[in-house]
Amino acid sequence: MEQQIIIEEINRLKKRKNAVILAHNYQIPEIQDIADYVGDSLGLSKKASETNADIIVFCGVHFMAESAKILSPNKKVLLPVLDAGCPMADMIEADQLRIFKTEYPDIPVVCYVNSSAEVKAESDICVTSSNALNIVQSLEKDKILFIPDQNLGNYISKKIPDKEIIYWEGFCITHHRVRHNELDMVRKHRGETKILVHPECNPDVVEKADFVGSTSQIIEYVKSCDDKKFIIGTEMGILHSLRKQNPDKKFYLLSPSLVCYNMKKTSLEDVYEALKEEKNEIIVDKKVMIKAYEALERMLEFS
Ligand code: 13P
Ligand code: SF4
Repeated sequence: MEQQIIIEEINRLKKRKNAVILAHNYQIPEIQDIADYVGDSLGLSKKASETNADIIVFCGVHFMAESAKILSPNKKVLLPVLDAGCPMADMIEADQLRIFKTEYPDIPVVCYVNSSAEVKAESDICVTSSNALNIVQSLEKDKILFIPDQNLGNYISKKIPDKEIIYWEGFCITHHRVRHNELDMVRKHRGETKILVHPECNPDVVEKADFVGSTSQIIEYVKSCDDKKFIIGTEMGILHSLRKQNPDKKFYLLSPSLVCYNMKKTSLEDVYEALKEEKNEIIVDKKVMIKAYEALERMLEFS
């Protein structure tokens, strides 16, 4: 089918079925353009919890669609490509977390949303990269277990030195690839141009950046800054929104390795098929859902 016809069909099905399309900032441009809402993990979770739609088509990776289902248990949540996963989320399983907790009893578990529902269900509170600092700061305990991203954990522990952060050694295979000498080289060639990075990058990259934030925080930062050029240290899908929203500004990717293969799996055809057949529905075990909901809800209450 021709692209324009697929887009029209998606829009027709969306109306008929009272569906909403949510897309992450890393999705391909065509998907971002048909979405009702494009955002970071926190924004997407909020939208999922607020929507009146009967069907949520989630264009992102598995843990994001799962969070949408947990927050909207009575809605049908569809993930157009079921094997669009997040390797970082797969770096810790519920059994491993249970053992980790027995090694450090009575310490709250703060869980980055890039994790499975089973892992969330074993955690005290969830965070995203946009609210992690504020949430950890607000916790009464001075020791916390942070899972699964060591880089975000490291970033938090440097920003909040009065807390002891014991972190799991997971990482994002995409952001972890960026090397600090790549940053040094870009800095040398691009002089004063500001470098904006995601906290999933390695600590030696993060500490040399001019701004550190979630995908939507990077977009907001660019909007509010008068500079005309920026170097972007997060997945390349974000460049679409940045360029669309700031036609007078120029953007350069910090490293060519900033491509998340899983975020690129979803095509317009996949969205059309998922919506037409109502296939690839996300199902979460009821008991897991109740416990995971509590951890996500605590985060949303805070936000
Ligand atoms: P954001 O919450 O910043 O959009 O991050 C999601 C993600 O997967 C980053 O790799
Ligand atoms: Fe997971 Fe990294 Fe891809 Fe985000 S960019 S979905 S953390 S692999």
